[in-house]
Amino acid sequence: MKNSINIFSEKKSKEKISMVTCYDYSTAVLLNDTDIDSILVGDSLGMAFQGNDDTLSVTIDDIIYHTKAVKKGAKDKFIVSDMPFLSFQISPEETVKNAGRLIKESGAEAVKVEGGVEIIDEIKALVRAKIPVMGHLGLTPQSVNVFGGFKVQGRSLDNARKIIKDALLLQEAGAFAITLECIPEKLAKLITEKLEIPTIGIGSGKHTDGQVLVITDLIGVCQNFKPKFVKQFVNVGESIKIGVSSYIEEINNLKFPGESNVFSISDDTIEILKGEF
Ligand code: KIV
Repeated sequence: MKNSINIFSEKKSKEKISMVTCYDYSTAVLLNDTDIDSILVGDSLGMAFQGNDDTLSVTIDDIIYHTKAVKKGAKDKFIVSDMPFLSFQISPEETVKNAGRLIKESGAEAVKVEGGVEIIDEIKALVRAKIPVMGHLGLTPQSVNVFGGFKVQGRSLDNARKIIKDALLLQEAGAFAITLECIPEKLAKLITEKLEIPTIGIGSGKHTDGQVLVITDLIGVCQNFKPKFVKQFVNVGESIKIGVSSYIEEINNLKFPGESNVFSISDDTIEILKGEF
């Protein structure tokens, strides 16, 4: 059965909500066969897929391109796509235009935006345009240059207060859920208890209403980057290396391609060709 946005409100405080990022068709087909509640086409693709040091260079066209691929593979999942850096900070009009393209051209069903009070007019404009909005607070990676690195947020009283106020504002503006990234577990718990909409945590402990992870971290294909909050659940990276080594060995031993991998032609035809050339 196709998941909808309702899964978020239905599960709040009852069951945990599971989310994972995805950037390509083949992985989306696999995810569609799992019980995952929702898929995020995150701008983390700038790091996990494009190999950049941060997410800042990702464009709305990049997100549309990847969402189209994911949408074709994960037909039953509710797909949220990230609004990349500077696609939603300039004006409410520009924000609705960019989000509208994302929804119309890629099939995303909701958008995610990073920030609080400073983008509240943009969020209200999206909600007015009937575009479901997921908020994102805490360590918002698009603010990496303001934070001076990928640093845990919300440890000081002032900063924690700002995150709580922003969360309440996002809820009031009409966001259907909020991602809380890399904030202390007790702060995430407090926010989760204060809100009627669900919180989806990453690096924010177990008390949020759901969890989201970057797929390449979860399956172990991004071996050179492992933040403290990531758990690698399976080592696909190791399997890829083992598979490619076996492939090379079998090419060299003439074991691959084998009988079952080749196409036949009659000996008579070959004899005729030999005579001709
Ligand atoms: O871009 C992304 O993948 C994200 C998640 C890490 C929450 O924003």
